[in-house]
Amino acid sequence: MNPKSFIDTHKERMLNELFELLRIPSISADPAYNDQVAACAEHIAAHMKNLGIQNVNIYPTKGHPIVYGDFLIDPALPTVLVYGHYDVQPADPIELWDNDPFDPIIKATDIHPEGAIFARGACDDKGQMFMHLKAFEVLQAEGGVPCNVKFMIEGEEEVGSSNLGPFLSEHKDMLACDTILISDTGMIANDTPSITTGLRGLSYVEVEVTGPNRDLHSGLYGGAVANPINILTQMVASLHNEKGEITVEGFYDGVEIVSDDERALMAQAPFSQEAFKKSIGISDVWGEEGYSTPERTSIRPTLDVNGIWGGYIGEGAKTVIPSKAYAKISMRLVPGQDPDAITEKFTQHFINIAPASVSVKVTPHHGGLPYVTQSTDPAYQSASAAYERTFGKPALPVRSGGSIPIVALFEQILGAKSILMGFGLDSDAIHSPNEHYGVFNYFKGIETIPYFYHNYVNQMK
Ligand code: BES
Ligand code: MN
Ligand code: MN
Repeated sequence: MNPKSFIDTHKERMLNELFELLRIPSISADPAYNDQVAACAEHIAAHMKNLGIQNVNIYPTKGHPIVYGDFLIDPALPTVLVYGHYDVQPADPIELWDNDPFDPIIKATDIHPEGAIFARGACDDKGQMFMHLKAFEVLQAEGGVPCNVKFMIEGEEEVGSSNLGPFLSEHKDMLACDTILISDTGMIANDTPSITTGLRGLSYVEVEVTGPNRDLHSGLYGGAVANPINILTQMVASLHNEKGEITVEGFYDGVEIVSDDERALMAQAPFSQEAFKKSIGISDVWGEEGYSTPERTSIRPTLDVNGIWGGYIGEGAKTVIPSKAYAKISMRLVPGQDPDAITEKFTQHFINIAPASVSVKVTPHHGGLPYVTQSTDPAYQSASAAYERTFGKPALPVRSGGSIPIVALFEQILGAKSILMGFGLDSDAIHSPNEHYGVFNYFKGIETIPYFYHNYVNQMK
């Protein structure tokens, strides 16, 4: 098998095919794009059929459809289930993009001197998901696919995958597998491959603080009536103490304590605090006392306001005490924390700290369980050896701060562990304007994945 030479002769086409996929604005959060999301599912299904993948089917859900296809050669051989998502985040704020987010272009950057593909979904997750279809093509051309492969590509990851859990339960036999292969995370750097061994969970709530029953003149009433925005900001500020710890009653109950040995191992992964600060334009970091920056973004839970609004935000000045104030709050969770229990604790706490002058309402959004896996897992070993082959060094295990809620459900419902072979970089601006994905990373992924299959088949013998 020689993935490199096959890729070299088909580079241009493999890029053009990804560009076609990136041109479809499959924004799952905005109903105005429902037809485009459906068109994207059709596009992927058609591409799978062209590759010779069998039983290709588009499964409708209450939300966006799931694309499934498989290639089953021998029940005695292991089965790999590839998961990815074809939906993308909204492109806004659109005016901060340097190109049309749905008309991909290639531009060189400092980190990607060989060029990067700029488009919404380039890295998260169309570019990474599509590597798996191209890797399948490589396998077929270079001696054949060595085991059973199933593909499940969903269209609701960016909105919480709420219909995928039930789909897993309803199609347990169809989705039965030995391991799940996912490229929807990142790696340390283009010369430092890593495998993600943990994902944080998520609890996401929206809060509404209500004061007077209507907006009031801030001169006639100001000083005598609680201003919901003032109150909300005080309440939000009180959610962290001076040590950067979260004050929600019971928030840390059961949180898994990472051993000193493991923390020492983590500290060996290359990380520059200076480069970190510079890359996002901050003069100092912030966070929970007693933990390093990489620890704060992986093994520790967090609480953040994602949006806050209320009152007058239009042109000029309007003197008003608003009736209501709102905030969207996310909590990233670690092993030992349950999203529903955390949502409940937050709700209780937020009601408890509200002064009598306002009323509060807390509405839960989507959530997800945290996930961890071990570097002793056979799929991990196979992946690490694959990186060693194509990067010249084995991958480092790294726990990520992001969330892919379905991964914990894969383990619960399908009884299979996931191997997170992500090829993105933190600097690729996923969910942000000017999202991009390195051309190097795209082709390196396509080159590395075939070795994973071969290593895994050998490992499982
Ligand atoms: N692919 C990301 C998650 C990710 C990115 C994990 C980089 C690790 C490294 C995924 O598409 C995502 O954005 N997840 C959301 C959660 C979801 C419920 C909206 C997240 O982490 O905010
Ligand atoms: Mn993703
Ligand atoms: Mn995402």
